[in-house]
Amino acid sequence: MLIRGADVVFSDGVRKSDIRIEGGLFTQIAPTLDPPENEEVLEAAGLTAFPGLIDMHVHLRDPGFEKKETIETGTMSAVKGGFTQICCMPNTRPVIDNKVVVTYVKARAREVGLCKVHPIGAITEGQKGEALAAIGGMKAAGAVALSEDGKSVQNSALMAKAMLYASDFGLKCLCHCEDASLVDGAVVHEGDYSTLTGLKGSLRAAEDIMIARELCLAESLELPVHICHVSTYSGIQLIREAKARGVKVTAETCPHYFTLTDAAIRDFDPNAKVNPPLRAERDRVAVIAGLKDGTLDCIASDHAPHHADDKNVEFNDAAFGISGLETSFALSYTVLVCENGFSLPKLSALMSANPAGILSLTGGEIAVGAPADLMLADLNESWRVDPAAFVSKGKNTPFAGKKLQGRVKYTLSDGEIKYREARA
Ligand code: DOR
Ligand code: ZN
Ligand code: ZN
Repeated sequence: MLIRGADVVFSDGVRKSDIRIEGGLFTQIAPTLDPPENEEVLEAAGLTAFPGLIDMHVHLRDPGFEKKETIETGTMSAVKGGFTQICCMPNTRPVIDNKVVVTYVKARAREVGLCKVHPIGAITEGQKGEALAAIGGMKAAGAVALSEDGKSVQNSALMAKAMLYASDFGLKCLCHCEDASLVDGAVVHEGDYSTLTGLKGSLRAAEDIMIARELCLAESLELPVHICHVSTYSGIQLIREAKARGVKVTAETCPHYFTLTDAAIRDFDPNAKVNPPLRAERDRVAVIAGLKDGTLDCIASDHAPHHADDKNVEFNDAAFGISGLETSFALSYTVLVCENGFSLPKLSALMSANPAGILSLTGGEIAVGAPADLMLADLNESWRVDPAAFVSKGKNTPFAGKKLQGRVKYTLSDGEIKYREARA
């Protein structure tokens, strides 16, 4: 196949190029390539080609919560969002804490055949925070990292042991940072809007203390650690300082933390209930600065689909989470590139090459010899978020009605078209 006339995003700039794909790989990239008669041509003039997006933090809910999402609907949502690889969190039922569940997720994803799915194993058995999970078996079955996402391992000695075992198997811990004693049932950020609404808030310290602990462990043990969904200005500063003295830390944030503040909860919209919570303008600005200066390495959606039964209820009872795969790219393009001057190579690094690097995944660039994973977007098109149009089962988004710039048109994985926007 020949992809003709796209503006191609490379790590060092954007150049109009033709791209030839053979046997699932990029085989030729040049300013112009001529197709032989029998070659399929995808005319992409006016579109921008990005390396297939990689989301290292997704909840697929399968097995166990198929009412919220399945591996099929979750990967349909992923390719619609421009993603060719996603990593899925272990807070399923049963928990992904052994090789059998890892094997199931991989096999089911392969059967569906839309994008690559890399399971993340739990740190502790059943995510109970008591005994380490069967890490070696999960690694052998294909787990790419470990996480207790949804909560933190509260016991520091157990977490230290987890980091040591993980590193023996060449895995990293991806840390959801939350001190349970400080959160204590809070549902929002403690600030102006918790006061205004009377909803129980939690301090930045609830997140920051756990970020600091993970940094201390990583530094003492001289092991790498990855911090999930950073939301506080103060947590970003802790990571910045740790990086400056050589701690092997990487970190992600999510589109909602650089687009929204806790003002989004003022009318008790459960779709704006997420953990960690939306914070203040000071935090939002710091998240953008952290992405800009490299303190934050990548963007992950924390795609957390929920059924209406779990979301359209009184704020205190609603589940935490935002369905994010189908808005992640356009939110990032709109806010970071259009409004904050990020370059396209920088955006691409944050959404492809950097997450690939953190987890040692193949992919993340459009280059000869690499797997032909790419996404074609129309950056001139604006559109309005309509949750009813999501292919994810999770319609829970605080962005309904929001006008965004940049629309995914095609997603190709291993040279095959996995998503093509339906014509209006
Ligand atoms: O908002 C969230 N939703 N934060 C988490 O940590 C877990 C996630 C979920 O699984 O729904
Ligand atoms: Zn989390
Ligand atoms: Zn999560």
